[in-house]
This record gives sequence, C-alpha cells and structure tokens, in this order.
Amino acid sequence: MLHRNIYRQVLMLLCAILFTISLVQAQGKLPNVMVLATGGTIAGTGATSTTTVGYTAATVAVDRLITAVPELKKVANVKGEQVFQIASENINNDSWLKLAKRVNTLLAQKDVDGIVVTHGTDTIEETAYFLNLVVKSRKPVVIVGAMRPSTALSADGPINLYNAVLLAGSREARGKGVLVALNDQINAAREVTKTNTSTLDTFKTPELGLLGYMQDNRPIFYRQSTRKHTADSEFDVMQLDVLPQVDIVYGYANVNRIAVDAFMAAGAKGIIYAGTGDGSLADPVKSALVEARKQGVIIVRSSRVGQGIVARNGEANDDELDFVVSDTLNPQKARILLMLALTKTINTKDIQRIFYAY
Ligand code: SIN
Repeated sequence: MLHRNIYRQVLMLLCAILFTISLVQAQGKLPNVMVLATGGTIAGTGATSTTTVGYTAATVAVDRLITAVPELKKVANVKGEQVFQIASENINNDSWLKLAKRVNTLLAQKDVDGIVVTHGTDTIEETAYFLNLVVKSRKPVVIVGAMRPSTALSADGPINLYNAVLLAGSREARGKGVLVALNDQINAAREVTKTNTSTLDTFKTPELGLLGYMQDNRPIFYRQSTRKHTADSEFDVMQLDVLPQVDIVYGYANVNRIAVDAFMAAGAKGIIYAGTGDGSLADPVKSALVEARKQGVIIVRSSRVGQGIVARNGEANDDELDFVVSDTLNPQKARILLMLALTKTINTKDIQRIFYAY
C-alpha cells in the first residue's frame, strides 16, 4: 500500500514536470511580439458602457491593455512598452521620430519577431505611412486602434489587439510593409484611409482594395502593395532630430492666397496643395504657389478627392512651373513623403521620382 502511494506520487510529479517542460517549449516556439502603446481610443475610457462618443482617449496603460486579452499568451510572448499616452491628433513630427527610432532599435534585436503599435485612429494612416518609409526591417509592424473605448459594450480594442499580435507574429506578414489591422481587415499603410468618423468599418483602401483578412486565428493575404517600403526605402531617420516644415493648403471654391502666404512667412520648405478635382489650381492660389516656388519652396499638387492619380502636366503645366504631383497619395501622406524627400534632395526631378516610387 505504502509503495503504491509513493509510486502514484512519483508518477504525478513526473507528469507535472513533463507538462511544465512542454509548456516552456511551446512558449519558446511562440513569436516574440512587442506592443508599443501610444494612446488613442483603444486606450480610452468612457463614463458608462454605452458611451461611444465624448469619452476620454489615452488613459489605459499598455500593461492593462495586454492583460485584458489573456488569449494573447497562447499566440505570442508579448511585452508592452508605453511610448506616449496621447490622442492621435496630437501626434507630431517629434512623436514619429521617437517612435520610428524605437521600432528600428527593437526590430534589430534577435529576440523581437514583430511589433504592434497601438494608436488613435484619427492619424493612424499617417503614422503607418511614416513608419512604412523609415523602418529598416522585413519583420512585421502592425498598427492597430479601436473605434470604441475600452469601457464600451462590444469594445473592438481587445479583438483588434489580438488580431494585430497574431499578424505581427506571423510569417505571412513579413516583407509586406507596415500594416494597419482593424475590424478583421488588413490594409497597406500607403493606401489605407479613415473613411467614417465613427463606424467600426471606417478603414478602407478605396479602389485598390484591402490586402487581406484576419480569420480563424490567421492572416489570409490576397495582394500586396507594389510601392517601395521599409527595408527597400532610401530614407533613414535614425540620426535625425527634426523634419523639414511642410504644410497643406486646402482647395475650395472662392479660395484665396492667404494660407500659402502664411505658410511661406512661417518658413515652410514645402507645400502640399490639396486641390479640387485632379489637383486644379484656382488663379489666386496658382500665383501664390508660383511665387513660393521661385523662393525655393517645393510645391506638390495633390487632390482633396480621395481617389485617383493626380496627372502630371494635366491641370497645370508642372514641367514649366517646376511643380511635383502626388500620384495617388492623399494630401496628409504626400506631406510625409515630401518631408522625407526633403531630407535627401531639393531637386524637383528627384522628388517626382520619389513620389512615383513610394
Ligand atoms: C485618437 O485618434 O486618438 C482618438 C480617436 C480614435 O482613436 O479613434
């Protein structure tokens, strides 16, 4: 009887040891994903569970975001770091430089397989495109947000974070550039844009389409962006402390030259014109932009329309005016590319080449 009890205890001990070993081995095989938190609605809190507008963004710390999704433990070894805690309308060039440097430093480490950035949705497309141009790695970088605060009924943050971690730890996401993943959909940083102020399906890639879906615990890709990005990009911000000033002037009926003159007086090195239609220039703006160009400011014609190519030498004689066109980039992304282009060159032919390449 005594022998049988000892035998049973030894057996149980052995089983426990074997179970622990297999757990450690399984964890060892899981990808290592860093979650860099920057704030936004995904970290927001509302007064009640039905508050979905008028809540406070950027209040929940990264550790709480991670522990709120215990399922993460099964798909990745996740560590969190709070980079900022802000609503994304307050993201600025300095935030981007800080974030990009941290992402590059982490991705250079052997023990980091992928990065998730949690971010407010209002400027998520801009941060994603900036990182897409300056991250020097083929490892996945996934930017994620939420449209409902963490305290809301059916908050979308937890499932979005879970999918983002899965995607950042996946082989499929490698080399695809920076990805924006919300609402079970994967979009490319270059093309995605926020299309609705408040619905969950706000992120779209008009006309060109999304890259794929998150379904049944895995990414399923159907296409990829053809423009240069990440490891193939010529831009490097690791030694930069400041980006050149580039501003956006919006086109509308009855537009005047006041904004162009104000940005010039404030020292702009580049101006993006969010023109009507195919980037057309009303007379008062055209003469102001021509003067600005003569003073060395780089002018990029973009469009407020949101879809389609701005044709070079279409609505304006860009060769004669020495202007650049934004191709399909919306004004806010054209601003980012021009800032980075200006860190390399002030030659408009080179800058136009850059706009057709990225
Ligand atoms: C923000 O962009 O920080 C607030 C809005 C959001 O995250 O949806």
